[in-house]
Amino acid sequence: MKRIYMDYTATTPVDKRVIDAMLPCFGEAFGNASSIHSFGREAKAALENSREKLASLIGAQPSELYFTSGGTESDNAALTGISSKYSTRDRRHIIVSAIEHHAVLHTARYLESKGFSVTLLKVDSHGFVSPEELEKAISKETFLVSIIHANNETGAVQDIKTLAGIAHERGALFHTDAVQSLGKINFNVAETDVDLASFTAHKIYGPKGIGALYIKRGIDFEAAFHGGSQERNRRPGTESIPLVVGYATAAELAVTELDRERERLTTLNRIMRSGIESTIPGALFNSPVERGVPQILSVSIDSNVMEIDGEALIINMDLEGIAVTSGSACSSGSLQPSHVIKALGRDDRTTMATVRFSIGRFTTEDDVRTAIDVFAGVVARIGKRKKLSSPVS
Ligand SMILES: Cc1ncc(COP(=O)(O)O)c(C=O)c1O
Repeated sequence: MKRIYMDYTATTPVDKRVIDAMLPCFGEAFGNASSIHSFGREAKAALENSREKLASLIGAQPSELYFTSGGTESDNAALTGISSKYSTRDRRHIIVSAIEHHAVLHTARYLESKGFSVTLLKVDSHGFVSPEELEKAISKETFLVSIIHANNETGAVQDIKTLAGIAHERGALFHTDAVQSLGKINFNVAETDVDLASFTAHKIYGPKGIGALYIKRGIDFEAAFHGGSQERNRRPGTESIPLVVGYATAAELAVTELDRERERLTTLNRIMRSGIESTIPGALFNSPVERGVPQILSVSIDSNVMEIDGEALIINMDLEGIAVTSGSACSSGSLQPSHVIKALGRDDRTTMATVRFSIGRFTTEDDVRTAIDVFAGVVARIGKRKKLSSPVS
């Protein structure tokens, strides 16, 4: 049986071209970038070339970009590093959207436990944060707003520029989690005018364990770790040159190939959407038709139309070779409905019956058509169609 990977939003395979760029850094170019001898200088050059490459891809200065271990660290560092510098006794309010990744949501909850006040901004039924809602929630006590750019469960892309503008008008800083954006849609810090942005490599065919945090020049920031003076004292520890080089190579490839890839994936996404629409009773799409990344198509099965066990759905699809993700997360050993899908207004049972298809560089049209057939077959087999109640006379 051919296995078809449709979970590119969770992670991606490392591109062969990225591996080729990384390999010499494990061998002959193994130096420590802090050493002043020639081995160290070579490592330092590779580090700074990679930083320059990545910075230019997002419209930043190299000195504004810090390497981290990935998106989770970048999100944590952004929220905590700003909170300790910009909050005062009268300014302790943070706004985040209800559809943030746990890396932001749980950091905000942690800060709340330390005495900050946190507002979760609702989204509409298509998964968008409305600028009016932000206007209503923001006050002179707000010092930080954090809103995800491209959502990892629905693919909805927020109007970051407008939202950042509202934060700035009220004197608050603006952070965005751009982990699912860079290399998939255009993302530029100068155009969006964000103050901080988080990134990771493993969503764009780079290695796991490396990411970056953009911090606009002039912004004060408290480091989470203490140690050497690497990364301008903001992130001490010996830099991993193979990972850094792999990340910059992956990002460059993704951005260079973005337009062509976006067109191809948009076509595949449309095929999937119309195939599901015509074969699955009660299919409700969580991904917007407009303003979404083409990599993601999330669909729930309406619990008023059909009873179906979400976990069984994913397991059965896997048994038939299709690797997808559900609309639930394992929390304390039990499956909980996804906070993102629930935020769209779905009930718990519909949320649990969610499948996120996410496609990428190696997905073909055949893969997509096979996935639709398997999905339709599994739903027909394990779902129980509800009887429509007879109209009241
Ligand atoms: C939107 C978003 N933010 C943050 C993260 C965390 O990134 P990492 O896995 O690099 O820690 C992810 C990964 O799933 C994500 O999708």
